[in-house]
Amino acid sequence: EKGTYAHYMLKEIEEQPFVIRKIIQQYQDEQGDLTIDSSIVNVLNQADRLYIVAAGTSYHAGLVGKQFLEKLANIPTEVHLASEFVYNMPLLSEKPLFIFISQSGETADSRAVLVEVKKLGHKALTITNVPGSTLSREADYTLLLHAGPEIAVASTKAYTAQIAVLAILADVLRKNKGIEKNIDLAHELAIAANAMEEICDTKDEFEVIASDYLSFVRNAFFIGRTLDYAVCLEGALKLKEISYIQAEGFAGGELKHGPIALIEDGTPVIALATQENVNLNIRGNVKEVVARGANPCIISMEGLEMNGDRFILPAVHELLTPLISVVPLQYISYYAALHRGCDVDKPRNLAKSVTVE
Ligand code: F6R
Repeated sequence: EKGTYAHYMLKEIEEQPFVIRKIIQQYQDEQGDLTIDSSIVNVLNQADRLYIVAAGTSYHAGLVGKQFLEKLANIPTEVHLASEFVYNMPLLSEKPLFIFISQSGETADSRAVLVEVKKLGHKALTITNVPGSTLSREADYTLLLHAGPEIAVASTKAYTAQIAVLAILADVLRKNKGIEKNIDLAHELAIAANAMEEICDTKDEFEVIASDYLSFVRNAFFIGRTLDYAVCLEGALKLKEISYIQAEGFAGGELKHGPIALIEDGTPVIALATQENVNLNIRGNVKEVVARGANPCIISMEGLEMNGDRFILPAVHELLTPLISVVPLQYISYYAALHRGCDVDKPRNLAKSVTVE
């Protein structure tokens, strides 16, 4: 039930801090250490390469997960769109392991890949919100998101739950391999959950941003680098799905290779700046679009903020920024859709779970 919330999407955005805390709890052992079923840890550690397969928002979570698996656990990881993988299978490594990410566990495109890789004799892990779903039943292993039912068609809490579970998976693999990294993940996730809650408390600000930037526009751009780029793809998907504004996410460095031609007077450009090593680069990209007339909205993070930033996120671990930087983008999409009179929870032409190819 959506209770006092105007829409399921709003409710689900605001459930995110609680979902992250629930996930920490669900994956903690009696000692408080994050843990994952040892059969899953063993089979992943035997793999020489991980292949993440997913669609839509779950694919975007996969792009973030790849960074965790490579940076924390040193495991080469590829991320593939399920619909492409089926018809154009990449050359597989000697010991591949497949990870299917699916909120519903019913996505036909992802299932088609699972059927194919099972035929080849490979093992698969499904990360899903729905126990007993098709992808869960048909894979060898399952990790649950514990996000509770997601009703709004536009995925929000499942995305952040997927990111949290992928972070836990990567961190457990890291420890199992004896790789030393200065990170207490349960603690960092708890900090991120608190930061999410703080951001939710300032939602009025995002309503103002939506009306300042997106009221009368036909298109909008999201730019970022590294992890911010992955989140920009998700921010753009959210906006196009529910507000029908044509939105695209671009890697900051790619602008000059084509997309900057689209910038006109007043074009909204939402820029994420949460990554220290590319902070100056993304700000350089913002200057480039501003010089062509863009209306920039910079969302940065404490410690990296500069004059003129529109919103400053509370500081979190540099790997976990997607958990919090996506929240303003979800709200901005929500309010943009609301102002335009769109059906937020049931956008046109879309279904919650896509069970046909
Ligand atoms: C976007 C959205 C879709 C789904 C995609 C995959 O808000 O909901 O892009 O993410 O259809 O669905 P699942 O995760 O159920 O496989």
